[in-house]
Amino acid sequence: MQGRGLKPGGRIKRDFRPLPFNLPIKSNKERMVEMAGDAQQAALQEMEQIIRRYPAERRYILAIMQDLQKKFNYLPKEGLQMTARHVNAPMSTVYSMATFYKAFSLAPKGRVNFKACDGTACHIKGSQVIINEIYRCLGIRLGETTPDGEFSLETVNCLGACAIAPVLVANQKVYAKVTPAAVREIIKEHGGRIDEPAVNE
Ligand code: FES
Repeated sequence: MQGRGLKPGGRIKRDFRPLPFNLPIKSNKERMVEMAGDAQQAALQEMEQIIRRYPAERRYILAIMQDLQKKFNYLPKEGLQMTARHVNAPMSTVYSMATFYKAFSLAPKGRVNFKACDGTACHIKGSQVIINEIYRCLGIRLGETTPDGEFSLETVNCLGACAIAPVLVANQKVYAKVTPAAVREIIKEHGGRIDEPAVNE
């Protein structure tokens, strides 16, 4: 099909006529700020919806935080503030509960969250080697997330699977008897790119 302005000779005829009305021209930076603002607004609305599902009583703080954690994969500061206001509790109460339970995180986690088991059996069988290899490949230490938000790393205590130690969990998937080479394969399996060469095991 011949496109508009395309002559049989193959040259494109450009149309320099002015636009029919004045469109505001935005820079890429302005568009990105606008998009970030929209996303933040949507997130705040979602937090409010979650919180308003519960009666305004302090005994629901934990349940609200569980729902927020499930939705956002961490507890956003704004969510904690809204929770405190909703149940009329001091922020210090909400914050101390958020930091007391290990199931909650105050920092955003990666799309793929690695949990390296560091219980006794896994420790003896080389959990530190797994942690080191993740650092070598992705540049993250415990409690950190890659700058692109793709991967994060934390440790957990015994997962009850000592027979297959050392154990690594990526989101919900459990990997048994993990070696440094296996770590590299697991990272690739979850969409990671590895530039570091492998070291001899
Ligand atoms: S110590 Fe890791 S599963 Fe038990």
